[in-house]
Amino acid sequence: LGRDIIYYSQLDSTNEEAKRRINAGCKVEEGTVIVAGRQTAGRGRMGRKWESPAGGLWFSVVLSPELAVSELALLSLVFARAVAKSLDTFLPGGCQIKWPNDVYVKGRKLAGILLELSGEMDRAHYLVAGVGINVNVAREDLAGEIRDAATSLYIEAGRKVDINKVLTGVLKSMDDYYNLFRERGFSPIREEFKACCMHLGRKVRVKRGEGYIEGINEDIDFMGNMVINTGKEIIRISTGDVSII
Ligand code: ATP
Ligand code: BTN
Repeated sequence: LGRDIIYYSQLDSTNEEAKRRINAGCKVEEGTVIVAGRQTAGRGRMGRKWESPAGGLWFSVVLSPELAVSELALLSLVFARAVAKSLDTFLPGGCQIKWPNDVYVKGRKLAGILLELSGEMDRAHYLVAGVGINVNVAREDLAGEIRDAATSLYIEAGRKVDINKVLTGVLKSMDDYYNLFRERGFSPIREEFKACCMHLGRKVRVKRGEGYIEGINEDIDFMGNMVINTGKEIIRISTGDVSII
């Protein structure tokens, strides 16, 4: 990944730019990376907005994986592990993963991943893997609503970090884990994921439609589902927003 890196000082969203190129029928090589210095309409999971000030690392990788839909869902966890592993090298105490694919340090969000499928049925399918990492973002660069909930490498490490080193390291790690997943499946990565998963074994609440479910998060299963024991039943969820209670 990352043999072709296309850099913009500003974009609406790197995921949007990747999809525009794909939908315009451009031949986009697998592994092409689109990076923006800042995003004016950065997007997060579940239709949320993603704050993307200058100093952060905002990029998307274009992939064309030959995988079944069930395996595509696993890629979200695979890339979370890849990003977390590489960010560990910049952090004195390491980082944790919040299922399915957020990276946290001491309870604050450092990075997020947004996977989107693109392309038409009769054409090649592309997967756009968007990664957002708060690298050299100071607390005052973060909007009021997320100032307490978010953190950055700069805040955690107490010094500026070379953003190109972060990009190179994360891309190498994503490449390694992508290959490991295709060769050996999810099992080895699942063990690593569980070892740094911040809510495994804890009591959690997961929003579901208007309501929510509560219980102990007992496992992350082979399908990448979150397994919750409510005391009455075991529930497996494939998507949702988790909070530790
Ligand atoms: P809603 O209307 O559902 O509240 P929204 O589009 O207004 O959604 P928010 O809920 O305000 O978006 O925020 C999006 C989420 O993403 C929040 O959980 C916020 O903490 C997080 N977030 C956004 N940008 C960043 C960032 N750069 N770093 C860490 N977390 C971020
Ligand atoms: C999340 O945690 O909700 C996912 C956040 C993903 C943000 C990245 S930044 C690069 C790419 N472009 C976007 O608009 N979003 C992703």
